[in-house]
Amino acid sequence: MSAIIPVDLLAAATNPAYFSSLVTTNISNPTTIALLAYNDTFSTSILGPSATARQLYSLDYHAFHEAGAHNLATNSLYITANFASLSTPTNVTILDLSNNYSMSTVQYPDLHQPNGGTSWYPPGSPTGNGTTPPNLLFCDQGDLTHNSGLLSVDPLTNTSTIILNNYLSRNFSSVNDVRQHPLTGDLWFTDADYGYVRGFRPPPSIPKQIYRFRPSTGEIAVVADGFTQSNGIEFSPDLKTLYVADTGAIQFERNFTRPATIYAFDVVDGGTRLQNRRTFAYVDSGYPDGVHTDTQGNVWAGCGDGVHVWSAGGTLLGKIWVGVETNNFAFLPGAVLVFTNGQLWAVEGVRAVGREVCRDFGECGG
Ligand SMILES: *[C@@H]1O[C@H](CO)[C@@H](O)[C@H](O)[C@H]1NC(C)=O
Ligand SMILES: *[C@@H]1O[C@H](CO)[C@@H](O)[C@H](O)[C@H]1NC(C)=O
Ligand SMILES: *[C@@H]1O[C@H](CO)[C@@H](O)[C@H](O)[C@H]1NC(C)=O
Ligand SMILES: *[C@@H]1O[C@H](CO)[C@@H](O)[C@H](O)[C@H]1NC(C)=O
Ligand SMILES: *[C@@H]1O[C@H](CO)[C@@H](O)[C@H](O)[C@H]1NC(C)=O
Ligand SMILES: *[C@@H]1O[C@H](CO)[C@@H](O)[C@H](O)[C@H]1NC(C)=O
Ligand SMILES: *[C@@H]1O[C@H](CO)[C@@H](O)[C@H](O)[C@H]1NC(C)=O
Ligand SMILES: *[C@@H]1O[C@H](CO)[C@@H](O)[C@H](O)[C@H]1NC(C)=O
Repeated sequence: MSAIIPVDLLAAATNPAYFSSLVTTNISNPTTIALLAYNDTFSTSILGPSATARQLYSLDYHAFHEAGAHNLATNSLYITANFASLSTPTNVTILDLSNNYSMSTVQYPDLHQPNGGTSWYPPGSPTGNGTTPPNLLFCDQGDLTHNSGLLSVDPLTNTSTIILNNYLSRNFSSVNDVRQHPLTGDLWFTDADYGYVRGFRPPPSIPKQIYRFRPSTGEIAVVADGFTQSNGIEFSPDLKTLYVADTGAIQFERNFTRPATIYAFDVVDGGTRLQNRRTFAYVDSGYPDGVHTDTQGNVWAGCGDGVHVWSAGGTLLGKIWVGVETNNFAFLPGAVLVFTNGQLWAVEGVRAVGREVCRDFGECGG
């Protein structure tokens, strides 16, 4: 159980040490989870008065890194583990939501170095609202002999299908994160250099870009470039805005003169192109990795000390603070699960509803 801690921004404005004493943890063995309200709306309408927070797991290996896609047929959440070495395949961690978050581990055929992921509605299938159990879609970062791209998995049969593994013959670097547009079915994804940075991909041969792929026709287009390391990607609930995180501050070394920034774009021309790139938020801790929105349009991102939450206008409203690098998180109905590699955390009794919860869980409120 965690009370919500109010942040005094005026006190912080003239005291650079303000935050270092507000809440602390032991980063070698983090056990503290705190809910920090930078703005009253965080307590009142985003988390709500009955939110509680706790640690679910603390392991000595990195089971909780990215993705966090839900599958309705199994009522499980699929979380990708962190890259360990080329000789140890990267696990996918399965969290059984019908059974007290119990966890198991799986490796899927042809999935080499999974990273981001989402639920996946193949062309022709009803796009959601719990109508048909979708499959899963993973970003495969590839390795020294396998291309990077997008791979779908049916978690009932554990079979996989390569959906995309090149850009009109050119190799991706290491595809990082993906969302499916709920109306067009297009897959929007980011490509970054982290496979090369971590020694499991050849040197990059293409810029860091944002792509849109139409799975029904194979049409593919670059919709944005100019990133140091394009990473998390997410739509606003009205699908008029696309958010893309740039984790450029971390490459071979950390250098905080590079971006740790979320950019926003207008999605135009019937959901096919981007316009009007602008800076949405620069984070004060680490770099923004996985990004998700809630149905009110607030933007949530995994950052250096937890999950940060901004209004659609870019006001920082609050943090789920854990004091360690947070790669991603997942919305469940009434809850948020937070991934910090070795640890998994839960905030329950949450009022905010993730943008995709209605579609993926078939729980549309009301
Ligand atoms: C921090 O955690 C590590 C690992 O559990 C432990 O060895 C160390 O004593 C802790 N440090 C403090 C100050 O509690
Ligand atoms: C709280 O955030 C809202 C935006 O959601 C903003 O309009 C308001 O000014 C903020 N309040 C304070 C006290 O900063
Ligand atoms: C649920 O799992 C937690 C660990 O995450 C454990 O402490 C607890 O005892 C379990 N509860 C039940 C009812 O199995
Ligand atoms: C994969 O998961 C198993 C537990 O099921 C664990 O023992 C192993 O260390 C994990 N591998 C990596 C590379 O994290
Ligand atoms: C899903 O259901 C919600 C609420 O019932 C509705 O607003 C939305 O339009 C539906 N979406 C689709 C893609 O059918
Ligand atoms: C693309 O990567 C594959 C290995 O995944 C490699 O065999 C091929 O030569 C690469 N193509 C180019 C154009 O670099
Ligand atoms: C798929 O993998 C999961 C996790 O290892 C396992 O529980 C399940 O039995 C497998 N299903 C099939 C059809 O092999
Ligand atoms: C940090 O990055 C900037 C921009 O790329 C570069 O100019 C600077 O030399 C770097 N600093 C260090 C200490 O590497």
